[in-house]
Amino acid sequence: MSATSVIGLQWGDEAKGKIVDLLTEEHDIVVRYQGGNNAGHTVQFGGQTYKLSLLPAGILRPGVTSVVTGGVVINPRAFLEELDGITSRNGDVDQDLLISNRAHVVFPWHMAEEAVLEKGRGGDAIGTTMRGIGTCYRDKAGRTHAVRMGDLVKPESLRERVTTVVQHKNRVLAALDPESVPLDAEAIFQEYSEYAARLAPFVTDTTSHLHKALAAGKRVLFEGAQGSLLDLDHGTFPFVTSSNSSGAGIHSGSGVPEREIGRMIGVVKAYTTRVGGGPFPTELDDEIGQHIRDEGNEYGTVTGRPRRCGWFDAVATGYGARLSGVDCLAVMLLDVLSKLEQIDVCEAYEIDGERTTDFPAQIEELGRAQPVLRTLPGWQVDITGVRRLEDLPPEARAYIDVVSELVGAPVDIVSVGPDREQTILVDRD
Ligand code: IMP
Repeated sequence: MSATSVIGLQWGDEAKGKIVDLLTEEHDIVVRYQGGNNAGHTVQFGGQTYKLSLLPAGILRPGVTSVVTGGVVINPRAFLEELDGITSRNGDVDQDLLISNRAHVVFPWHMAEEAVLEKGRGGDAIGTTMRGIGTCYRDKAGRTHAVRMGDLVKPESLRERVTTVVQHKNRVLAALDPESVPLDAEAIFQEYSEYAARLAPFVTDTTSHLHKALAAGKRVLFEGAQGSLLDLDHGTFPFVTSSNSSGAGIHSGSGVPEREIGRMIGVVKAYTTRVGGGPFPTELDDEIGQHIRDEGNEYGTVTGRPRRCGWFDAVATGYGARLSGVDCLAVMLLDVLSKLEQIDVCEAYEIDGERTTDFPAQIEELGRAQPVLRTLPGWQVDITGVRRLEDLPPEARAYIDVVSELVGAPVDIVSVGPDREQTILVDRD
């Protein structure tokens, strides 16, 4: 078993990018397997900040192959913009990048449909990133009007395919919103033909490539996007994303069976954040919430929206950990809590007078959940320079122990700042 997986256990934005970047050094291949450019990863090193959305973090390391598998939905324009941004700073990355011919393509009609659908939900809007991700996955499940990367790179049939789909989409959009501007099939075909010509050299059967690589003993790192609680099947439906963003998505998204994964790392923030709508039992709609937002710079990488902030929720995160089957935790952004006098952790919910540590399936029930909080003393010391667990203030160590105990997994990594160096690797032996 030579594969490692990095999965967010909350509602996304757990700073997985930093952990993936750290681990990339000891891997040959980094794989993105679900989601699209709704995801945002920030990686900082050498005084530079890189914002990645569709490209795996391996793209920043020479000699590491980056693979985007069939479970990802690809907006070719966004993909190429990101690639060009990295190439202009780091040089050519061509030979190190593979894109699955099974991955589905995001087109302008996906954004147009999503805009109408979200507007139509009014106050019940999901609060999506408006990147056409859900509508693209919907077309994938619908099968009749979907285009995969393997189709995109076939110029002989692409014009006809785009024309047929646009005719259908224009009828749908006109029915949903009579004021919508019809899409121009020929203009879309021309634009996407140019993307296709540039992307064609990367497009291949990544499933087969990964099977062979694993058989040859290559070390593969799977990079999850979003978080387990946004999982389409297991998250806080309908306030979820449209892919399997828990560990469940690795197999379906990449074609690599889960038994290949020897180490599953669950990434958690030392507190909780959420973007978009949906219940959030430990949300802090007060000055402490604002303090966490300011200290943690909790504004969306993709949309810039302020993130909702709250205390660490061990019920929700424990559920995320069990869903994904994690071996250990990486606790991120611990330094963000450093100025607080005391810190609360949610250890159970009280729902309709009953105490529980089960995470409800229905959002109405989750919406009624009152957090049962355990209050811990803060440390009020700058910890950004600490590199060994034993050098952390006792209160900070106690906090990590409580997180570990309540979530039910050991802590292997603690992050105390955005830089690669600001990391504590816990020696459990
Ligand atoms: P979508 O993925 O754009 O359809 O958005 C659905 C929900 O998932 C919204 O609440 C988004 O804010 C949330 N979401 C999608 N991607 C991310 C992410 O990378 N981090 C955090 N939330 C996300």
